[in-house]
Amino acid sequence: MGKYVQEDQEKCIFRVNRKSFTDQGILELEREAIFSKCWLFIGHESELRNNGDFHRRKVGGRNLIFTRGSDGVIRALYNTCPHRGALVCREGHGNTKVFRCFYHAWSFNNQGDLVGMPDKAGFPEDHNCDGSKNLVEVKRLESYRGFVFVNFDDNAISLEDYLGNAKEYIDLVADQAEAGAHPEMGMEVLMDPQEYSVRANWKLLGENSVDLYHGMPTHKTYFDIVATRGGLADKDNLIGVGRDLGNGHAVMEYTSAWPRPVGKWIPGYGEEAKGIIEKNIERLTEKFGEERAERIAKKNRNIWIFPNLIINDIMAITIRTFYPTAPNYIEVTGYALAAAEENENFRQVRNDSFLEFLGPGGFATPDDNEALELCQEGFLNNKEVEWNDISRGMNREVPQATDEAQMRAFWREWNDRVTFLEAKKEEEAGRVEV
Ligand code: FES
Ligand code: FE
Repeated sequence: MGKYVQEDQEKCIFRVNRKSFTDQGILELEREAIFSKCWLFIGHESELRNNGDFHRRKVGGRNLIFTRGSDGVIRALYNTCPHRGALVCREGHGNTKVFRCFYHAWSFNNQGDLVGMPDKAGFPEDHNCDGSKNLVEVKRLESYRGFVFVNFDDNAISLEDYLGNAKEYIDLVADQAEAGAHPEMGMEVLMDPQEYSVRANWKLLGENSVDLYHGMPTHKTYFDIVATRGGLADKDNLIGVGRDLGNGHAVMEYTSAWPRPVGKWIPGYGEEAKGIIEKNIERLTEKFGEERAERIAKKNRNIWIFPNLIINDIMAITIRTFYPTAPNYIEVTGYALAAAEENENFRQVRNDSFLEFLGPGGFATPDDNEALELCQEGFLNNKEVEWNDISRGMNREVPQATDEAQMRAFWREWNDRVTFLEAKKEEEAGRVEV
């Protein structure tokens, strides 16, 4: 039986050692085996509409500049000066032709090339002929349907191969908007993202984001509010499936009580929104046929892209990414994703629908964070109470959305990656001792 994850299909046992959430050594393994090897979300193409647009991002523990150069190419540049290390870009976002280092004022164009430095006389004429004084670019950056990812492993498989079966679900999100003249830009990220932190392990937030089982008990306040706005009819019908999508990715797809700006109206949205939503369903039906249109419009999807990207297409769409600064601490960034073409009034309805549930000021996210922090506190008893039970639904042929198959998909991949690296390190250490 595994040290961290134990599975016995016949006996319906799936358990995770709680050390996985608390141990500094495991976090170090994760940084190497996961955050330095997997495709990590850096941003959405819509955030870089114009040449020169940039966003400062932290991804996988690295400081990056997510930018579209004057040549129109999207890049991720390591945000560190080749001179003596300072962050070159200090602003959160903006548009610029030049990034200028605060410390000794070396400057770089928006493609990363060194274009100026004070008092050049102290350097030979050909000092940058090898490009070593340019900003360093992340070699692997790829995008799918507007979602841009980086990978710090130069030999990683392509993003499309990595996403695999998860692409089907990203498509169901990306297809919600009329792409118009920009086939990849139908959806847009709204400025600015929400940033907050939670005193809990990063994997707890991943689990929570695809956990429908906790919905009713944890979010009672939200359900009560939806009920007052006409969303009561199917309050108890959280019906759907959970799927292992391979490569550690997972999804749950289901119907629910809450409204959806793309295709499920409730009286609380108002009359104008009703007409807009009906028209949208007509458009989707014309384009994709009834079955797919129904799926896009009415079904919710909580997608977990291994390791740390969540796309929750629920009462609004949130893109959520997070990174551990310690085993018991995460920094979270949450974005809202919306159809670019919608009018101002409807955008307001969507934003209300988003904020009611999502984000640090919503009716749900603080409850979720409370639950995660309670788990982390409970893990202080790890020595005596060692295992988390993640077996729900193993006794069923087709796992339901309220089961935990989604989490098992993540944990299998996590376990393979972490234990493989750990064994390799132990083997290397053994060799050195001999
Ligand atoms: Fe940037 Fe010196 S550290 S110019
Ligand atoms: Fe929740």
